Amino acid sequence: MLDLRNPPRRPLVAASILSADFTRMGEECRQVLDAGADLLHVDVMDGHFVPNLTMGPDMCRWIRKALPDAFLDVHLMVSDPARFVGPFADAGANNITFHVEVLDDRGLAALAAKVRGLGATAGLAINPPTPVDRALGLLADFDLFLVMSVNPGFSGQGFMSNVLTKTRAIRAGIKATQRTEMDGGISPHTAPAVREAGCEVLVAATAIFGAPRAERVGAIANLAGRSDNLRPNL
Ligand code: DX5
Ligand code: ZN
Repeated sequence: MLDLRNPPRRPLVAASILSADFTRMGEECRQVLDAGADLLHVDVMDGHFVPNLTMGPDMCRWIRKALPDAFLDVHLMVSDPARFVGPFADAGANNITFHVEVLDDRGLAALAAKVRGLGATAGLAINPPTPVDRALGLLADFDLFLVMSVNPGFSGQGFMSNVLTKTRAIRAGIKATQRTEMDGGISPHTAPAVREAGCEVLVAATAIFGAPRAERVGAIANLAGRSDNLRPNL
């Protein structure tokens, strides 16, 4: 099982299942992992923090059951994450990320401690309009920092390159055991700039699930900047 706290040897690719065929979820997850994806990214939306509804802990539980070794990276785009970290940890999430916009600093640090106590790593996400300073005071409390490169809610949106400065600012203050992640609009065209900014986990929905299955090995290798199409050892 991948350990997010181990220093990365290479950029990791997280396949966002939001663009998978929901009628074939198990098959889709297995296929992208076999094609080289390192993590499965589970986008949870509550229709309140973002204008869309997606999936809950049961989806996570079923994927965990089908794929015991998959790394499940849960992204909570919800107004009240404290209600959901327990159910998602129980459902098999390996990392649980929630947003800096929804709680004050004390609440965010306390919830990160709770997530870690439940055996998962804790991630902090920051939306495009939110200044990076909001996250810089919390660097000691989280394992992962997710810089959003679209306004969350939907896959298939255009990449906002101005957020790359946030990744650089966060990277300057974190240790080798912590990672940065970027999510939204990551494609073969935008991925090189994301990797250049030092981002270690690239999330993609459209660029992976939008490709025919036979082309996904190449699509994932492309995002990761791997010239070969082999899955390296972690
Ligand atoms: C956006 C979600 C993303 C989304 C990415 O709100 O958090 O994970 O699925 O989709 P693409 O890669 O299509 O921008
Ligand atoms: Zn996401």
